[in-house]
This record gives sequence, structure tokens and C-alpha cells, in this order.
Amino acid sequence: MSSAISLSRIEKWFGAGTEAVHALAPTDLAVAEGEFVVLLGPSGCGKTTLLRMIGGLLEPTRGALKVEDKELWSHGVRQGQALSELGMVFQDANLFPWLSIEDNIALPLELKGVGTAERRAKARELTKLVGISGFEKRWPRELSGGMRQRAAIARALSYNPKILLMDEPFGALDAMTRDTMNLELQRIWMETRKTIVLVTHSISEAVFLADRIVLLSPRPGRIDTIIDVPMPRPRSLDVQAGEDFQEIAKMLRHRLAEIS
Ligand SMILES: Nc1ncnc2c1ncn2[C@@H]1O[C@H](COP(=O)(O)OP(=O)(O)O)[C@@H](O)[C@H]1O
Ligand SMILES: [Mg+2]
Repeated sequence: MSSAISLSRIEKWFGAGTEAVHALAPTDLAVAEGEFVVLLGPSGCGKTTLLRMIGGLLEPTRGALKVEDKELWSHGVRQGQALSELGMVFQDANLFPWLSIEDNIALPLELKGVGTAERRAKARELTKLVGISGFEKRWPRELSGGMRQRAAIARALSYNPKILLMDEPFGALDAMTRDTMNLELQRIWMETRKTIVLVTHSISEAVFLADRIVLLSPRPGRIDTIIDVPMPRPRSLDVQAGEDFQEIAKMLRHRLAEIS
């Protein structure tokens, strides 16, 4: 089976000489088409570094990285073909305050030269998918934090990438909104069949969302354990009270305490 993402001995150093930081030790990982993988670990274990390298925002010091079977870097240059398969969502929605929700969502399309009518149609389709239909003409400041993150997800999906990369996308939201967004993200993922790699330091978020959890440990960042989460889908928030969920969460809690 071909992989959506494949990392081979990917490694990252920041700086040089005695000041050098070994952010990520040589790492191998393959993410399957349509898989939901969560990167979990304590602060500073290299989650963001790893995700930014997959997203083409940061060049690996060494190693090979393929996205949809295309090399992401070639001779220090990012490859557009691979990049077009990637959409990114960060902790902050990063919407432009002077653009309507619709124009924010369609901005990547505008940059690609897509015409107004087509952009508007795509934005409509996406606001519906992420559950903010009717808010197309509003300003970002008129939306709640959760709704702004929905818009950020819609924007990341605007050019229909196969892969969605998310760095603590719900980390700034209150606990109840976060639960709702986890349910919504599961639904969006099941509807669109994207491949998702999501970073979190929340054990419960990881177990709720993931097909597979990649637990990272720090100094230097590296993969400690990979855990399958076999609970059937769609998962309701009630799975959190179930035995499977509790068992996996407990194991992760103990392992995190050992490696932090
Ligand atoms: N631009 C940078 N320059 C120097 N060190 C960095 C830089 N970015 C991250 N680091 C270091 O790399 C390590 C991993 O950081 P990061 O990937 O942000 O971890 P996480 O997202 O898991 O909290 C940390 O020790 C951090 O201080
Ligand atoms: Mg981080």
C-alpha cells in the first residue's frame, strides 16, 4: 500500500556548534492514505518541528520526506507538486481581520488565480462542511474562537489537498468547545477521507481522535511508542468513559510521566 506521507531518517538540528539543539533525532514514519495520526508528547519534544517539516515550512537537516510519493525537497528547494497536497491549521486561526469569512476561506484560491464565482461557490461548500453556513459575509471578529477555527479548517481545505496538518488546533479553546470541535473534526475527516496528522499534548484528545498515536519523547525528540486506537467510528464523546479509552489513556499517562 502506498503511503500519504513517508519519512525516512528525518532529522533536525537548530543552530550550530556548542549552541546546536538536536530537535529531532533520525525518525522514520509512514502515514497511510486516509489515516488519522496524532503526534503526542510533552512540550519541547519536537512535535511542531516534525509537523513543520512534513508541511514544507522547515527543511530537514537530513533525511528524505515524501508526500503522496513525491519528494518534498529537492536540492534545498520545496517541490510545488508535493506542497499542493498539504493544508495546514495552527493553534491561532490567523484569519485576516479585514477580509470576510468567505474571502479568508477562498484566499488560497484567489492566490492561485481562481475566478470570483468559483471562489464563492467553493467557500459556500466549505462553510457548509465545517458548520458555519450563513457566516460567509461576517468578519472574523464576529465569530467565536471555535467558529474561527472552523473557518481556518475550511481555508486549509480550499484547494482540496489530500492531507491536513494540524498543530494544536484546539489548544486555545475552552474544554466544551474543544469537545465539540473534536466531534466535528472526526465528522469532517469521515466525510472528506483526508489524511490527517494532528499535534496535541492532550491525552484525551489524542485517544479520542486517533487511529494511531505517535508518542514522542524529548532531548532529543524521537518516537518513543506507537499505539493503535482500535475503537470503532464514529466515536461519541461517551467513549471517553469506556474501558478501551481508559486503558489506552492510562498507559499513555504512565509513559508520559516516565519520559517527561
Ligand atoms: N527556531 C528554533 N531555533 C532553535 N531551537 C528551536 C527552534 N524551534 C524549536 N526549537 C527547539 O527544538 C525543540 C523542539 O521544539 P518544538 O518542535 O517546538 O517542540 P513541541 O512542539 O513538541 O513543543 C525544543 O528544544 C525547542 O526549543
Ligand atoms: Mg509545538
